[in-house]
Amino acid sequence: MASYHIADPSRADEGRARIEWAWHEMPVLRGLLERFERERPLRGRRVGGCLHITTETANLARLLVAGGAQVTLCASNPLSTQDDVAAALVTHYGINVHAICGEDSATYYEHIHAVITTDPQFTLDDGADLVSTLHRKYPSKLGEVLGGTEETTTGVIRLRAMAADGALRYPIIAVNDAMTKHLFDNRYGTGQSALDGIIRATNILLAGRVFVVAGYGWCGRGIAMRARGHGAQVVVTEVEPLHALEAAMDGYRVMPLIEAAAIADFIVTATGDQHVVDRPHLERMKDGCVLANAGHFNVEINIDALADMAVARHHPRTHVEEFELADGRCLRLLAEGRLVNLAAAEGHPAAVMDMSFANQALVLEWLAREGHSLTAGVHPVPQMIDAEVARLKLAALGMAIDTLTPQQQHYLASWQEGT
Ligand SMILES: NC(=O)c1ccc[n+]([C@@H]2O[C@H](COP(=O)([O-])OP(=O)(O)OC[C@H]3O[C@@H](n4cnc5c(N)ncnc54)[C@H](O)[C@@H]3O)[C@@H](O)[C@H]2O)c1
Repeated sequence: MASYHIADPSRADEGRARIEWAWHEMPVLRGLLERFERERPLRGRRVGGCLHITTETANLARLLVAGGAQVTLCASNPLSTQDDVAAALVTHYGINVHAICGEDSATYYEHIHAVITTDPQFTLDDGADLVSTLHRKYPSKLGEVLGGTEETTTGVIRLRAMAADGALRYPIIAVNDAMTKHLFDNRYGTGQSALDGIIRATNILLAGRVFVVAGYGWCGRGIAMRARGHGAQVVVTEVEPLHALEAAMDGYRVMPLIEAAAIADFIVTATGDQHVVDRPHLERMKDGCVLANAGHFNVEINIDALADMAVARHHPRTHVEEFELADGRCLRLLAEGRLVNLAAAEGHPAAVMDMSFANQALVLEWLAREGHSLTAGVHPVPQMIDAEVARLKLAALGMAIDTLTPQQQHYLASWQEGT
């Protein structure tokens, strides 16, 4: 039965056109569609997804439906829903969606509850809000759940904490940790789309500016790389010596954030950590400094401290809020400190989500077939799925690679031959 809560059903055609546009950029998902339609590996399965409601997620959902699943979706971030896509999913693809861009916290959780009331057998999560709510508020429904997937670094960290507490009651596959996910999605996807969001929101020239990236993990590497491509002077801040060293050898300046804050024109966080930008940093920043976050939750910049320091607040542009301080400086926060690439742009380009979501679809198919043998806890993506996604993507790009000769296989497996 249709059940949905979306902003504006009249935008369905607009959403469908954009979903089809993204579909062209997702050859791996397109390739899987035919087999899913034929084999129906998810026949009759109820799937509940808490994901960013974007054109790419729409294409994952249509693939799962083609495979026989009944899919219900809610948003994994209050600002990332593309309302035209939500309308198209409901009107043209028969998928129930509970998501509205700009929804408040109460509505965000009502939408998660709406997904849970469909008694999902499989959960698709991005940040672990669905899994956490299911365990905390609906323990009686856990018996229905056969397995789940987790899309992002922060979600995997939360789920491992749940497992360590003995609280996680079903198996979840850490899709984020697949090589064909984080090496590409977190790095090239966040790299391009975070810059896209910052540029769309501000239209400020990056060339020659000091651009500080807090966190040199997979997302930070991508953001730093693309900011350098725009001619910015990139500074990296880190807490892990190895990652700091890597940033230095990649050619970036490395320093503590308290020093970087004084020279920054832009500061972008991508750590998954809390209050990385805190009051002492805000106190040292130059007038006009732009603050943005690309990490999962809006906790990386201490927004309460910023609000507390402000004597006035202005909205000079969409997705930009200026905090005027008593000494006359203005600090500019983008997208309320939420994922800037999803709130101020359109999230990752479809070509990269093609790999992330191929992992999601293949993992779900595998869980439906073999999940019963898994224990409760966080599990890796099976290596054969990771390798298959890489193979399919290369083939879709029309790229061939070499094959080991039997002699090379023998050589690589032996230890006797040396100099
Ligand atoms: N914007 C997006 O679309 C998107 C996409 C993928 C992941 N994410 C999110 O981005 C965040 C980072 O993901 P990742 O895959 O890059 O994680 P990661 O673990 O690879 O990297 C995080 C880095 O931040 C560093 N760090 C932690 N605390 C810090 C601090 N106080 N100061 C400086 N550095 C600090 C860590 O040492 C690490 O190197 C997570 O919240 C993840 O869920 C966002």
